[in-house]
Amino acid sequence: MAFELSIIVPTYNERDNIVPLFDAICHVLTDIDWELIFVDDDSPDGTNVVIKDLANQDDRVKCIHRLNRRGLSSACIEGIMASSSPLICVMDADLQHDEKLIPEMHAKILNDKLDIVVASRYFDIGSTGGLPKFRKKISRLATKISLMSMNISITDPMSGFFMIRRSFFEKVMYRVSGRGFKILLDLLMSSDERVKIAELPYVMRSRKSGESKLDFIVVWDFLIMLISKMVGEYIPYRFISFIAVGSSGLFVHMLALWSMHDASNMNFTLSQSIATFVAMTTNYILNNFFTYHDLKRTGKLFWRGLLSFYLVCMIGAILNVSLATELYQRQLPWFLAGVFGALAGAIWNFTISSMFVWKKNKRI
Ligand code: GDD
Ligand code: MN
Repeated sequence: MAFELSIIVPTYNERDNIVPLFDAICHVLTDIDWELIFVDDDSPDGTNVVIKDLANQDDRVKCIHRLNRRGLSSACIEGIMASSSPLICVMDADLQHDEKLIPEMHAKILNDKLDIVVASRYFDIGSTGGLPKFRKKISRLATKISLMSMNISITDPMSGFFMIRRSFFEKVMYRVSGRGFKILLDLLMSSDERVKIAELPYVMRSRKSGESKLDFIVVWDFLIMLISKMVGEYIPYRFISFIAVGSSGLFVHMLALWSMHDASNMNFTLSQSIATFVAMTTNYILNNFFTYHDLKRTGKLFWRGLLSFYLVCMIGAILNVSLATELYQRQLPWFLAGVFGALAGAIWNFTISSMFVWKKNKRI
């Protein structure tokens, strides 16, 4: 059976929304051949069981059940890669996206020969009806920042509801980061040609069942993704986050040093050593939480990871100091010697801790 449209729906704890979404889609999409692919990250509420039950009753429904992975964007990409129809629609499972727009999006992308049609909450009569006030503000701000960094003028690049041509997706797929929540923005920023794009307005509904997964980590991921795209992706995504955490470590270090040496008159070497340990510890905790949140170490593994992180950083510090000293002795200005030393230490810490502290587990 060849489908004209593959609808990709990422799910995490959406058990009660699966059947209503399926029914709603059946109701509005009567003129096109579609399939509905759910990509579930092994939701603890058993969403995959509901999806598989449905898939056993209707051939158009499929379940991609992923283990040891989390992420809205990567789930969407995986769903797209598993399908082959010429058109793809990405939407949320929580019924916030109005499925009645799909036929219109479908007609528009074909008639106007577009790459992407976005369902926009800001354009014309569209609205963010269902979102709390502070979410609207964050959303608008993020929109502005990202629009500035691209030369595309659309009103809602944060939308999680859009239709895309497979031929376009296949042009940009090598460059998409697949991280975080902002799949559309990721796709747009990955294109080096002008994107043929249009928007259709809709009113976003409020969520009835389950809860939103957008949290601080999602926002962090988004900011890092923007920086990463701006520097042209020469620098690995995680390294940017690692450096940001490292800068906070410098601050923690100086604060600890000041409070022990300057404010409490403790011996300098001892203060400096303790401050180093404090900063390494906060760096570890923050990296575990932000940079490597998808490989987060918990329980016993948290403590073992901390010990190996100390070890890695200690070698990094030796490397840092010896390189800086060497460069300084070769008449490099002190600040350049310092920066090169610190950079070498950071690259070492990052590379080795990615390999040994937060190593990737087996993915299925
Ligand atoms: N597979 C998978 N893995 N799915 C996920 C994950 C994950 O880690 N996190 C969230 N999802 C699914 C949810 O189950 C839901 O179907 C959809 O992704 C959106 O998640 P929500 O948690 O409901 O997000 P939101 O409503 O706060 O944000 C939505 O609206 C934003 C605009 O305000 C998303 O569509 C965003 O992409 C969009 O920017
Ligand atoms: Mn939602």
